[in-house]
Amino acid sequence: MISDAVKELERKIAEKNLVVGVIGLGYVGLPLSFTFMRKGCRVLGFDLDPTKIEKIKAGQSYIKHISAEELTAFINEGLFDATDDFSRLNEPDALLICVPTPLTKNREPDLQYITATGEAIARQLRPGQAVVLESTTYPGTTVEVLQPILEKNGLIAGRDFILAFSPEREDPGNPHFGTATIPKVVGGTDEYSSHLAQQLYAIAIERVVPVSSTQAAELTKLLENIFRSVNIALVNELKVLCHRMGINIWEVIDAASTKPFGYMPFYPGPGLGGHCIPIDPFYLTSKAREYDMQTKFIELAGEVNSSMPYYVIQRTQEALNERRKSLKGAKVLVLGVAYKKDVDDPRESPSFKLMDLLLQKGAEVQYNDPHIPVLLPRRQYALNLSSVPLTPESLSAVDCILLATNHSAYDYDFIWQHAQLIVDTRNVYRKKEHLTKVYFA
Ligand SMILES: NC(=O)c1ccc[n+]([C@@H]2O[C@H](COP(=O)([O-])OP(=O)(O)OC[C@H]3O[C@@H](n4cnc5c(N)ncnc54)[C@H](O)[C@@H]3O)[C@@H](O)[C@H]2O)c1
Repeated sequence: MISDAVKELERKIAEKNLVVGVIGLGYVGLPLSFTFMRKGCRVLGFDLDPTKIEKIKAGQSYIKHISAEELTAFINEGLFDATDDFSRLNEPDALLICVPTPLTKNREPDLQYITATGEAIARQLRPGQAVVLESTTYPGTTVEVLQPILEKNGLIAGRDFILAFSPEREDPGNPHFGTATIPKVVGGTDEYSSHLAQQLYAIAIERVVPVSSTQAAELTKLLENIFRSVNIALVNELKVLCHRMGINIWEVIDAASTKPFGYMPFYPGPGLGGHCIPIDPFYLTSKAREYDMQTKFIELAGEVNSSMPYYVIQRTQEALNERRKSLKGAKVLVLGVAYKKDVDDPRESPSFKLMDLLLQKGAEVQYNDPHIPVLLPRRQYALNLSSVPLTPESLSAVDCILLATNHSAYDYDFIWQHAQLIVDTRNVYRKKEHLTKVYFA
């Protein structure tokens, strides 16, 4: 039996006259808020971090590709408000949860942010609200973890409120696809929840893809990221073999990419980075153990990808060796600490591992990243560095430049001109004339 309050929610969604609550205003939650506001919906954002709330209220964007002008316009139109007052969670009609899902030290799923959010919602939940989890997680989280927390005060999912899972597929910095144009997979805990959650996203997103359950929606996202992790590991392994065989892996990938079917290119690199690919696959590994299954592809891909920084450092050592220099005592400038080109996000970036290994081997380490001016000490790495400006003097003063992230903002010819030696992990220096100073890794 569906309650009248939920029927009222259906009417609000049909009339596109509702307040959307977004919990967690990070790389996912902030763009998602914009997508709903662009369709005229009012958004009330929630975050634990008071600096984010202050910045939003002052019309300042803290994410590179999010425009401060548009943010200010939304605030002036009365469409956007943000708060760290969680007693207001009963105000929005829909609550979209975009909080972090990291791994613990032992590489187990860390659901503390989801459970804390669930508890906060449960305290305020009123009949007629929709709750959708968007954070990447293992199949079963919505039903086994979130639903019992939300229902503990007597309201029932599918009757008094709507509960669904819809994975976030945001690709920060991608100029071709944004939140509104990336199809949105949606699965509810029951048929009515599914139906209403689909209608909700259809307000803002061009194509909604229904699946039969929250578990199917949860696994869809993991499949996508496992697919990437496994294929990146494959080309990383082939890269090492190609170096030994004297074949250019990039040339081979380009040639294979001309096949119009049955192949899609993945590229090698210094290791895996970002909040998703190095982490998400292990959410499934952990859950699979409950079913007496070992996810061997995931484990193997993780092993190959996490060995890449060691390989890059070995190549750096060889490159210096050829110039009669040792890594110990060498000055090395790491170019790019963002986990991929043109973003300002250093989370899980392989550059940290590279810098750590360089320091362990006695090198003097500097870095430059036009998008990340300072590196503060973080979980595993006690680095405390500022980005050095790229001048003829700073470039020629180092023994080696280790190109880790191929930002578009770099003037690669200028860097090459003034460098003594470059170790290139991104195939930037592919011209023949570059090869005198360049080593690929
Ligand atoms: N960044 C991406 O490109 C991306 C892409 C797809 C999916 N995801 C997934 O989306 C989720 C969010 O990722 P993100 O990159 O936006 O993370 P983020 O760290 O950028 O943002 C999360 C925000 O949630 C806030 N927060 C934490 N606990 C909270 C709580 N209890 N209540 C309210 N706010 C809270 C944090 O202060 C932070 O601002 C993760 O599950 C991630 O795996 C991320």
